[in-house]
Amino acid sequence: MKKKIFSGVQPTGNLHLGNYLGAIKNFVELNNENENDCIFCVVDLHAITVNQDPRELNNNIRGTVASFLASGIDPEKSIIFNQSQVSAHSEAAWILSCVARMGWLNRMTQFKEKAGKDKEKASIGLYSYPVLMAADILLYDSTHVPVGDDQKQHLELCRDIAQKFNNDFKIDNFFKIPEPLIQKEFSRIMSLKDGSKKMSKSEVSDLSRINLTDTKDQIINKIKKAKTDPLPMPSTIEELNKRPEAKNLICIYSSLANIKLEESIKKFSGKNFSEFKEILTDILIDKIIPISVEIRKLLDEKNYLDKILLEGSRKAENIASKKIKKIHEIVGF
Ligand code: TYM
Repeated sequence: MKKKIFSGVQPTGNLHLGNYLGAIKNFVELNNENENDCIFCVVDLHAITVNQDPRELNNNIRGTVASFLASGIDPEKSIIFNQSQVSAHSEAAWILSCVARMGWLNRMTQFKEKAGKDKEKASIGLYSYPVLMAADILLYDSTHVPVGDDQKQHLELCRDIAQKFNNDFKIDNFFKIPEPLIQKEFSRIMSLKDGSKKMSKSEVSDLSRINLTDTKDQIINKIKKAKTDPLPMPSTIEELNKRPEAKNLICIYSSLANIKLEESIKKFSGKNFSEFKEILTDILIDKIIPISVEIRKLLDEKNYLDKILLEGSRKAENIASKKIKKIHEIVGF
């Protein structure tokens, strides 16, 4: 059966190595398997759940498209568009928010993390964010959703919403129940400064992450300053699991080199971190610098990026408008 792939990325700043290894690298592989229909969405409606500078948001939308293309997503094979340009997303999100239950949303850990201590001041959009995500996925009858580990709970919620809608309106299979595609080993890349925290765009220190737009010197410097521990490189998985910073760096190496974690452990067992860091820096430069150079080049081609978004939006609109029409009929509008 043909896989229908859908995934989204927020245009909230430079994409980083976590986005790349957790999600985009997977998008590229799925895009290259000819039998799949792929849709990759720049989720600008999700971005405004926290304050955004309008001009910066506008630039970041193009920046995200540039990162998709530079990483190897082919706009001839995949639909690339921004969410705000297809009104069915907002409409379906409202209808699905009448299906989703407060109790379900109250369990979402990402809202708790993002809202922080002062939940009263968080936007309603930030709270209902996973419902919009469900709308994104369900409008396209998506069968598979490639994401990093942090989105797992949101995908479970999406499945619950789809199931409840089908049950409430007694239409079997109207919404397809999507499968998450989460890599086993490298689905959560951690901060270079703290192995217990996720690598993130919102972390204040730029030294905590490798951005897809970093230069060679920035990569060299960030890996040199990346936190380690005083012991030599671990020689077993059990040992690795007790050393979060070492684990993160070895996972990054394995994912970039496309080799199993066990193989990397064997390769570096007992070596000094300085020796390992040199090899890690080399592979990062090898894989990330071509992407970084291409992003910079594409950012000067605004008209080309806008054309891709426009064409992608037309194709997405064509699919989503048919689904929302059926949703209207089912609901009784
Ligand atoms: P966002 O923009 O936060 O992240 C984009 C993708 O990158 C993954 N990711 C990571 N993977 C591994 N390690 C990390 N440190 C790391 N940080 C981010 C995320 O899991 C994600 O796959 N809600 C989504 C966007 C979205 C979406 C959707 C995704 C909106 N609608 C529909 C799938 C389907 C988000 O905020 O991703």
